[in-house]
Amino acid sequence: MVFVLATNNQKKRDEMERILRPLGISVVTAQQAGISMEGVEETGSTFEENADIKAVAACRLADLPAVADDSGLVVDALDGAPGVYSARYAGENATDADRIAKLLNAMKDVPQEKRSARFISAVCCVFPDGRKVTASASCEGSIAFSPRGEGGFGYDPIFVTESGKTFSQLSAQEKDRISHRGAAMRLLYSRLKPLLAKEEEVIEEENGQ
Ligand code: IMP
Repeated sequence: MVFVLATNNQKKRDEMERILRPLGISVVTAQQAGISMEGVEETGSTFEENADIKAVAACRLADLPAVADDSGLVVDALDGAPGVYSARYAGENATDADRIAKLLNAMKDVPQEKRSARFISAVCCVFPDGRKVTASASCEGSIAFSPRGEGGFGYDPIFVTESGKTFSQLSAQEKDRISHRGAAMRLLYSRLKPLLAKEEEVIEEENGQ
């Protein structure tokens, strides 16, 4: 069974693919499925609602099972901001650098011990017959005083993990092992597995095997 990844964010898509492929899940990008997520508005007030909106839309558009991730950075000293607005924190056409600069400026007077934060990922898988499987996970850390590292995307250069390194200073595999997205995708997979095994059985029965 092939799943369409409900995102136009190439870096996020690469991570989703990298995590799902070793689990035996075949994926195609929205582009490969001939659909665009551009017009799909994230109108939910939670990560879970937005993941649902994106997965339902992609599933309908592509007529394929779809997997969506809605994620963001929750900073305690900013009362949970940027949260579900992580992608839009510095306006619609802003860059990752703009968002990082805005966040660091908002945190400039916050001392080390009050810089706690977490990444949250809510993932949702929707099948054309309406079945849904969901999972969420978080990764605890803190906000650096300045960006460090080259890897990853988004707020990775300023998210300090328990190892003391930012997400950007970790290899892709190291990030996947501890990240919110890695944990949420693996939990999703564990919930999808029984369902996929049943599908296999039905296909085998139909083929008379
Ligand atoms: P959305 O899920 O498409 O609304 O976008 C989530 C936004 O949160 C991204 O555009 C990034 O700015 C940020 N984000 C989510 N996950 C990560 C991550 O793993 N690293 C860095 N930034 C992230």
